[in-house]
Amino acid sequence: MKRVLNFGSINVDHVYTVEHFVRPGETLSCQEYRRFAGGKGLNQSIALAQAGACVYHAGKVGAADTWLKTLMEDKGVDTQFVETINGPSGHAIIQVNTAGENSIVIVGGANHLMSGSDVQRIVANFGADDYLLIQNEVNAVPQIIRSAKVKGLTIVFNPAPMSSQVLNYPLGLVDILVVNETEARSLAGEIEPKAIYESLSHRYPNMAVVLTMGHKGAAYFSSQAQFCQPAEKVHVVDSTGAGDTFIGFFLAELIKTNDPKAALACASHAAAICVTRHGAAESIPSRRELEAQQPI
Ligand code: RIB
Repeated sequence: MKRVLNFGSINVDHVYTVEHFVRPGETLSCQEYRRFAGGKGLNQSIALAQAGACVYHAGKVGAADTWLKTLMEDKGVDTQFVETINGPSGHAIIQVNTAGENSIVIVGGANHLMSGSDVQRIVANFGADDYLLIQNEVNAVPQIIRSAKVKGLTIVFNPAPMSSQVLNYPLGLVDILVVNETEARSLAGEIEPKAIYESLSHRYPNMAVVLTMGHKGAAYFSSQAQFCQPAEKVHVVDSTGAGDTFIGFFLAELIKTNDPKAALACASHAAAICVTRHGAAESIPSRRELEAQQPI
């Protein structure tokens, strides 16, 4: 069975439901405060496991928050490469407004403590049949990508959150890039989906690109195929984790079927269910739920 090694963040999400995002100089009372499991890495690992993939999470978590590791295990993620450290975990301060949109500030904490020897030791367990999934919420991203490529893994990169450093990462080693419109604009300098792919494929001819566009749907581009997937019309209560759900289900379905079109449809349906619920990891559907609910 193909395996996914996800080097990813593990966060405690502090979620504040607000009438509007707090403005400069304003003090705002929230309508509700809740604590959830999160982190783009943890969310994507859980989405992969819920979708039926074999996923190993690599990361670090503070000793006070081992409930996050337990949650991943309960959802079917292999956590043998998750280390508990004496120090703070990563966390996120998330405002969710009445339209279900979010605004997020993250603090790296334990997510920024991966050493070069950790990377080598963990990657050594994987090979050419396996996939590396990585986001931009952990340290050592270039080294992780290079080490995994040397071992022959297929590299899937989600440059979120986007930063200027990403432009200096070894993007030529990436096999599948998953970006939203903002990330795509920063990387490609273009706005239109086709222009985004043309700009990226000019520099990275072997890279497939998955573009997520919220309520406008998603698109897949590679040298062999190009197609779009419309978004389902659902009542959005909280969009946090929707992109992560999309990525986990996309990759799981791609591994299962080798059909990017089927993977895009499956991912869009999973993300549509996710936005109808509160929280990040907690809002990710299972494959059984996905199959029980017809796309709208
Ligand atoms: O993508 C959503 C995630 O971004 C949240 O769970 C938060 O932790 C931030 O990492």
